[in-house]
Amino acid sequence: MSSRVWNDVDRYLSETLVQPDAMLEVALVASDAAGLPPINVSPTHGKLLWMLARLVSARRILEIGTLGGYSTIWLARGLASGGQLVTLEAVEKHAAVARKNIANARLASMVEIRVGKALDTLPGIEGPIDLAFIDADKQSNPEYFQWALRLSHPGSVIVVDNVVRDGKVIDAKSRDASVLGVRRLNELIAQERRVSATAIQTVGVKGYDGFTIALVLE
Ligand code: SAH
Ligand code: DHB
Ligand code: MG
Repeated sequence: MSSRVWNDVDRYLSETLVQPDAMLEVALVASDAAGLPPINVSPTHGKLLWMLARLVSARRILEIGTLGGYSTIWLARGLASGGQLVTLEAVEKHAAVARKNIANARLASMVEIRVGKALDTLPGIEGPIDLAFIDADKQSNPEYFQWALRLSHPGSVIVVDNVVRDGKVIDAKSRDASVLGVRRLNELIAQERRVSATAIQTVGVKGYDGFTIALVLE
């Protein structure tokens, strides 16, 4: 099974089930033009984030890792009316691109971007949050997860992106900080009785990867 088939099927699924959307497409074009790396979530994954926001009737969403705001737009569109999303981004240039994309999608009043390293800005976040999307530097995943959990309530959902990374996650001897971050995250979740989690492997236009979804129980 080749990655060409994964790509073709992913495109087929996106074209069939995910309506084309000018604001999202413009956001990607603007991100690319500004030189941002193309590491946004795929359209099918973005729509899942939107759906999760809807399923939890999200009034407050926390995102860690904004980039050009592609996933932010998907998530913010899933907010309940009057809801708010706060997204954390370390790189001012990324935040500037995201700010424009979010304004262009008419979501500026619902979205606040806080610029700075997430470990520095997280102490200023007010809970409770209904949904968290963790998608920044992978080495800090355990800390980000602990912050998201602290800000959550029973029924909140925490999603963590990029937990498979071409299968590198199973290398117990890895010294790669990202791999270590994901492995420490899994160990933390496994020992945390306040959450129940699963992880899904994915293939498609973003290669072979996966995400973890944790439900906050108490
Ligand atoms: N969620 C985006 C992709 C995020 S890419 C999407 O799917 O559209 C990861 C982002 O995390 C990058 O913009 C990077 O600058 C940011 N980042 C990296 N380290 C960070 C940190 N310590 N704090 C906050 N953001 C960080
Ligand atoms: C990278 C980061 C991501 O969040 C992603 O979805 C894909 C790749 C990266 O840092 O390479
Ligand atoms: Mg990601």
